[in-house]
Amino acid sequence: MSEFSPYLIEFKSIGSSTLGFITIAEYPMNIPFKIKRVYWIYDTPSNQERGFHAHKELNQLIFAVSGKILFNTEDRNGVKQQYTLDKPNVGLFIPPLVWRQIVFEENSVLLCLASEIYIEEEYIRDYNEFKKINQII
Ligand code: TYD
Repeated sequence: MSEFSPYLIEFKSIGSSTLGFITIAEYPMNIPFKIKRVYWIYDTPSNQERGFHAHKELNQLIFAVSGKILFNTEDRNGVKQQYTLDKPNVGLFIPPLVWRQIVFEENSVLLCLASEIYIEEEYIRDYNEFKKINQII
């Protein structure tokens, strides 16, 4: 683990089981970047795999706001980790240059807060290219 590795952030849940709960992500109070983009992924079939890419510049904070989502990550130093997201108040911070494979369990909804707008050229979609870039930096 290093400053280049992903890590989990636990956020406060405000509320009660009778009322329901609210969780807040707010820069710079409890998240490490300004948010320029939000997207969400839903209606994925059970055990659907996605991801298989890294980003050159992007910081992301990812939640399973519903269900269970597994992340298999590899950082720029080659450190591999597995994370299970199954609590709406726990997010996975992913810095740039982290390869990820994502597995969605049934009825899961992924919410992503991202530091930059969408730029396809900023993706690394080829694993060999990912490994090559990491040897150079
Ligand atoms: P992608 O990031 O490849 O999703 P995943 O890794 O979860 O499979 O995005 C899927 C498609 O959506 C791809 O064609 C690009 C498009 N897309 C946008 O147009 N804007 C966005 O902000 C994102 C995240 C994806």
